[in-house]
Amino acid sequence: MSSASDVVKTPLHVRTIDEVRQQIREWKQAGDRIAFVPTMGNLHAGHLSLIEAASKPDTRVVVSIFVNPMQFGEDEDFDKYPRTFDEDVDKLSKYGVDMVFSPVVSEIYPESIENATFVEVPKLSEILEGEHRPGFFKGVATVVNKLFNIVQPDVAVFGEKDYQQLLVIRQMVRDLSMPVEIQSVSIQREPDGLAMSSRNAYLDEENRILATAIQRGLKHLVEAIVAGENPTYEVGHACHELDEQGFVVDYIVVRRQQDLAVPEQGDKSLIVLAAARLGSVRLIDNIPFVLAD
Ligand code: PAJ
Repeated sequence: MSSASDVVKTPLHVRTIDEVRQQIREWKQAGDRIAFVPTMGNLHAGHLSLIEAASKPDTRVVVSIFVNPMQFGEDEDFDKYPRTFDEDVDKLSKYGVDMVFSPVVSEIYPESIENATFVEVPKLSEILEGEHRPGFFKGVATVVNKLFNIVQPDVAVFGEKDYQQLLVIRQMVRDLSMPVEIQSVSIQREPDGLAMSSRNAYLDEENRILATAIQRGLKHLVEAIVAGENPTYEVGHACHELDEQGFVVDYIVVRRQQDLAVPEQGDKSLIVLAAARLGSVRLIDNIPFVLAD
């Protein structure tokens, strides 16, 4: 099944690594492909678009729901991250998902997290999000590596909402010769343009309206750069605008799509990325674009 339908099929709910392995082995023996969508739950239409992309004939779709402590900083929202398992399963039932894997923390980290073996993707993990959230990509790469080892998918699907995360995963897979194809899906937005995110639920009414300014600022920035305006000036202007509205801007940058390096003369495939805080809520967004020759 490839999209939401009236047919409801409750996915198999599995909480241990052994159970996942056993079921995956059976499906692979039957000739099915395994498509995997890792999530931290509190599912919205962004997540569901990944599941739709994963759903193909002769493919079993596995979704993990695991709020991964290793990727949260000490002062971040691990404890209050929204956990809505029953609602999530209701949504997945309408998308023909075959298995939901929701392990407890000790299943994934049987020993202390501090002493666990980890995976770190150099350089790319140190800039932008990595600079503002030290240890974040180490936590992401490590848990995704572990989940890949458990689920052994043929393909795994990630959202371009977390563009840097997508590149980190692609590099990890390449560098470590992992036999997984990485597929990506573009950002799903609310009708007013705000990028969908589980963290949007933290916004009060006033800030929810204000939050759309990030996307508007990025859109304007892209238009100005495409029109040949000075990128440095335009980035400064975009920062200033958000500042004025009460955001604390972590960064607004123009980078190359392929590796998030600073663009050089002749680079055409670019992306603008932003991270800004509104009160205690941190929002990220991006828009990829291509310059004409
Ligand atoms: P989470 O924030 O739950 O996101 C799970 C997947 O959904 C990611 O690939 C993310 O990019 C994608 N996603 C979220 N919002 C989206 C949107 N508006 N449009 C399109 N895709 C969207 O990202 C994580 O969890 C974790 O870091 C994880 C990879 C699961 C590792 O713990």
